Amino acid sequence: MARRCRVCKGAPVIDLRQHNAAFCEEHFLRFCRTQVSKTIEKHTMFDHDDRLLVAVSGGKDSLALWDILLELGYNTEGLVIGLGIGDYSSQSTQTARRFARERRLVLHEVDLEAEHGFTIPGAVAGSSRVPCSACGLSKRHLFDRVAREHGFDVVVTGHNLDDEAAVLFGNVLRWQTDYLARQQPVLPAGDGFPRKAKPLVRLGERETAAWCVLRGIDYVLDECPMAEGNNHLAFKDALNALEERTPGTKQDFYLGFLRQGFEHFAPPDAEVSARAALAACTSCGAPTAGERCPFCRLRDNAARESTPIELGRKDH
Ligand code: AMP
Ligand code: FES
Ligand code: ZN
Ligand code: ZN
Repeated sequence: MARRCRVCKGAPVIDLRQHNAAFCEEHFLRFCRTQVSKTIEKHTMFDHDDRLLVAVSGGKDSLALWDILLELGYNTEGLVIGLGIGDYSSQSTQTARRFARERRLVLHEVDLEAEHGFTIPGAVAGSSRVPCSACGLSKRHLFDRVAREHGFDVVVTGHNLDDEAAVLFGNVLRWQTDYLARQQPVLPAGDGFPRKAKPLVRLGERETAAWCVLRGIDYVLDECPMAEGNNHLAFKDALNALEERTPGTKQDFYLGFLRQGFEHFAPPDAEVSARAALAACTSCGAPTAGERCPFCRLRDNAARESTPIELGRKDH
């Protein structure tokens, strides 16, 4: 027999095996809000005086996140980036616009092609470069730029438990210690970069989808067509198979890393302060280790359709 709501013993709408609990609608929504506010407080992500820029893709995670932050009373505006990935990107922008319009929220928009002269498919065409790295680099650059230009205190993204556990899995498989040293749900502001926070790291994809359905939020169902077959999805599949056998695996893996693993990879304070200061990109002014930032190099390269550039390093 299906279990009843853990709180009120009413009829359940969802069973969360990893928490060994089922919830009715009211108590599931409350559970999600509590998980998010717990994450915000535990990691000192932001408070009610901060101005938050929520990066919205039109997918379930970022729309659920924006909705939850509004319910929790935070001061938010949204940002959607048009990446130029055909219908997928048009749907993403339209869905984000609709969500903001219906709730009278401020949504900032940046269109890569109109404002910077290239699209993600165009930037990787004819090269062996992985689209997601060009895409991730562009998104991070534009999140930071909009936050700087409009004086936001924090950039907030909808990365969830499934995303973070898969990234952690990939970093561990290859022992990418420099990435492990930075895999925290909040990164402080510094070197001209705004603070970054991921308040959904305690909720999985299934929970954010259920949140949207129960709250009547329309979201883009399709996954990015350019991500098909990438390693990140393979890591997610592997973790899902383990989760199926042993519910709670993902959360033990990721939250256990934050509790017990991270400290072994974090660089000592002295090493952090000894790092070379970043200079302003000679083209756009963004902080960077080189002369021009990776985004400007990607854009100029896309315009020239010349040889691929090194995309590996994340400045922030
Ligand atoms: P992804 O990199 O697609 O897994 O998305 C991770 C997070 O980045 C999402 O939850 C959003 O917060 C943000 N994001 C992804 N795509 C966009 C976009 N086109 N515009 C604004 N934010 C985005
Ligand atoms: Fe960036 Fe797919 S959303 S490559
Ligand atoms: Zn209940
Ligand atoms: Zn630049």
